[in-house]
Amino acid sequence: MKVIYPGSFDPLTNGHLDIIKRCSEKFDEVIIAVLNNTKKHNVFTVTERMELIKEATKDIENLEVDHFQGLLTEYAKRKGCNNIIRGLRAVSDFEYEMQMALVNRKVYPSLETYFMVSSSKVSFLSSSIVKEIASLNGDISCFVPKVVEDALKEKFKGGSR
Ligand code: COA
Repeated sequence: MKVIYPGSFDPLTNGHLDIIKRCSEKFDEVIIAVLNNTKKHNVFTVTERMELIKEATKDIENLEVDHFQGLLTEYAKRKGCNNIIRGLRAVSDFEYEMQMALVNRKVYPSLETYFMVSSSKVSFLSSSIVKEIASLNGDISCFVPKVVEDALKEKFKGGSR
């Protein structure tokens, strides 16, 4: 069974990696779909975000890294995939995720959303938190893969953006 893991991934953190690794063991094929969202002020371009994901997940074989713009439901139809996976870090994620899952199913009735509970070791992480720490020259080595750590250091060289 094929599943899409959508998100902004600006940038990938160990929290995302936890979900990716675990769902790649449960599904035959995982498509990581990076949202090209012009509304969010992203630190990394879509291409950079995809490259970082590819590098950090190069040992996982059943993975495709892709990008999309517009509605997730349209993207899922184009990919011929009617399964979505999302990580749940805390109860606070639930309301928003539930709303998205229900709206998406209304628009695309055969679309199923699966939730995977984050490992407690990484459930406090978000991309913004990691970017903030990196922008203040803090140590992010235990929050992100090495390749992301290096990329963040490079981005914030010479002060916060
Ligand atoms: N580990 C670590 N961080 C996690 C995480 C996990 N397991 N799961 C979520 N997060 C964090 C992200 O790092 C991100 O942090 P930030 O806000 O600090 O950047 C935040 O939670 C939001 O997660 P993200 O997965 O990027 O969600 P999103 O809200 O940006 O996007 C989409 C979710 C892509 C699924 C949704 O916006 C979408 O489908 N968009 C397309 C348009 C569409 O179809 N809209 C209708 C939807 S009903």
